[in-house]
Amino acid sequence: MSGTSLQGIGETSIGVAALRALENSRADRLFDDPYAERFVRAAAGDAYWERAPAGWTEFAELMAGQVAVRTRYLDDALLKATEEGCDQVVLLACGMDARAYRLGWPAGTRVFEVDFAEVLAFKSGVLKGAEPLCRRVEVATDLRSDWPGALREAAFAPERPAAWLMEGILYALTPDAADVLLDRVTDLAAPGSVVAFDHAPDNPALRAARTAISADLAELWVGGPELDPDRWLGARGWMGRAQDVCEVAAAYGRPAPPAFDPARAGSGPGWLATARLTG
Ligand SMILES: C[S@@+](CC[C@H](N)C(=O)[O-])C[C@H]1O[C@@H](n2cnc3c(N)ncnc32)[C@H](O)[C@@H]1O
Repeated sequence: MSGTSLQGIGETSIGVAALRALENSRADRLFDDPYAERFVRAAAGDAYWERAPAGWTEFAELMAGQVAVRTRYLDDALLKATEEGCDQVVLLACGMDARAYRLGWPAGTRVFEVDFAEVLAFKSGVLKGAEPLCRRVEVATDLRSDWPGALREAAFAPERPAAWLMEGILYALTPDAADVLLDRVTDLAAPGSVVAFDHAPDNPALRAARTAISADLAELWVGGPELDPDRWLGARGWMGRAQDVCEVAAAYGRPAPPAFDPARAGSGPGWLATARLTG
């Protein structure tokens, strides 16, 4: 995906958008995301698939199924949380997530989009003229800094329940940094709040595919939470259930995403999780 003005981890958001654009082009798509292709074309030009770096097609074959399934699962989890009373949604490391524009949110829902300033600027430039289906609030910050302060300044109300999303980000955090992120979410979350995320420990198939694209991309994966998701959540009072991504895929009538398919060499586990804060 060369050509984007985004760099490093920010550029990975374009890769995810490309996989969502692929899903959106399918007749049997699991979700509608007409914006995904706009981001990719703005970043990499009209011939983006032809100009993709060596190795991208193989990586896309490994990950497209996971991105399709996780997007639908997390769409459903966030909508359910808002229908059950969370009128705030926080998309941590939102990248090119266009949920603010494409999901039918209950009236009055506020969606906070948290990412680096340059990522949000690129995104709002591409979406100029599009109308969000909620009250969309940009929070330009670095998740390694005082982002809870930035969120409060943006009028997030910690006394009210919220739906929190960590999608496509945990792999890029060290185990300690992932713990800090969930601790901070927990501190800001009123009882009844919901958290949803995807997570997969690194595995040989993914590592080989990333390395074929670039050493920089290979090194972005640094582990994420060390505990399995249920224990990681439960230790902080979040009650829910992590599901194997292959199980969720089967429920949508899709094959196991190859990087997480136990029948494939070099695969490893992958999860999708939703949990509610008790107490
Ligand atoms: C793989 S993309 C996923 C984007 C989106 N959640 C999705 O699934 O489409 C990772 C995103 O994390 C953001 N990110 C990574 N580290 C960050 C940090 N320290 N502060 C803010 N955003 C960060 C990147 O800018 C990028 O948009």
